[in-house]
Amino acid sequence: MTQTSTYNPEILSVIGKGLSGSPKRLPSWLFYDEKGDKIFQAIMQMPEYYLTSSEFEILQTQKHRILRHIVGDNEASNAVFKLVELGAGDGTKTEVLLNHFISQRIDFTYVPVDVSEAVLTQLVSRLNKSLPDLKIHAKCELYSDALESMKNDTSEKKLILFLGANIGNFNKEEAITFVKKLAINMNENDRLLIGFDLKKDPRLILAAYDDVEGITRDFNLNLLGRINREFGGEFDLDLFSHYPYYDPEIGVTKSFLVSEREQEIWIEALDKFIHFDRYEVIHTEVSQKYDLKMINSLASQAGLDIVDVICDKREYFADVIFKVKR
Ligand code: AVJ
Repeated sequence: MTQTSTYNPEILSVIGKGLSGSPKRLPSWLFYDEKGDKIFQAIMQMPEYYLTSSEFEILQTQKHRILRHIVGDNEASNAVFKLVELGAGDGTKTEVLLNHFISQRIDFTYVPVDVSEAVLTQLVSRLNKSLPDLKIHAKCELYSDALESMKNDTSEKKLILFLGANIGNFNKEEAITFVKKLAINMNENDRLLIGFDLKKDPRLILAAYDDVEGITRDFNLNLLGRINREFGGEFDLDLFSHYPYYDPEIGVTKSFLVSEREQEIWIEALDKFIHFDRYEVIHTEVSQKYDLKMINSLASQAGLDIVDVICDKREYFADVIFKVKR
């Protein structure tokens, strides 16, 4: 181990708690270090991972419809607004909208919000090259902080994007709490667009989290790799396996790492061994799937009205547009 002293204390405490409880669990945001970001990009290219291509199709074919929700027909060229994106990632899908808005000569500013400085820097430098005319104002902040600071600025309306079914990583209660927080920071003319993965053939959903090439397995196992790299863990990745599971009754995919034998794992930063029974699991991810009834109920509990529901042809995915209830 090259790492000697500087462990990130917040992440370390999350790992410590997650691995000492029962059942063991680690939060899914831990997936996304540099290596995890790369593996996730490969996941988005997989034939089994229908989510990305479905949402891409929606944005590509319905970009006019989306724009009309924030810019009425008669105000086209002098319209001013902020396109706020929460958790922008690599922004490939968003670029479809950015391109379209620019081609329509809309006067807008793109505000990608992310807690990762590295992600934002990469995104901004890429967009500076591909779309030199784009106005970008990146914010390295928590979503709620960024929105709060924008609420008082009523001179410009906002279209807030939360794409890619990222909302699925929250369970139903957490999703309500999260969307409520967005809603209280929205003004009357603002719109919120959330991407939901829809309930469908359970076998298709499971396959998206259990690809034959094992890319999703590597993504899941990277959590342990990250603990090894950043926290002096001594996990042998060959002694853990990837176990995804979809429950169609509640529409939830869960992912686990299974310890293939009884073992003690030393984690330097925690200064202790973690015990695993044979076949003991670490719960690493929830991916909630939605239907319209659930989306309606989420909206009403969060203080929002649904303005539009936009699906792809196969109805695998929905980009839903909300406004505040009045
Ligand atoms: C980025 C949260 C939408 O839940 O589908 C992909 C992450 N995990 N394969 C999802 C993920 C395993 C993804 N989200």
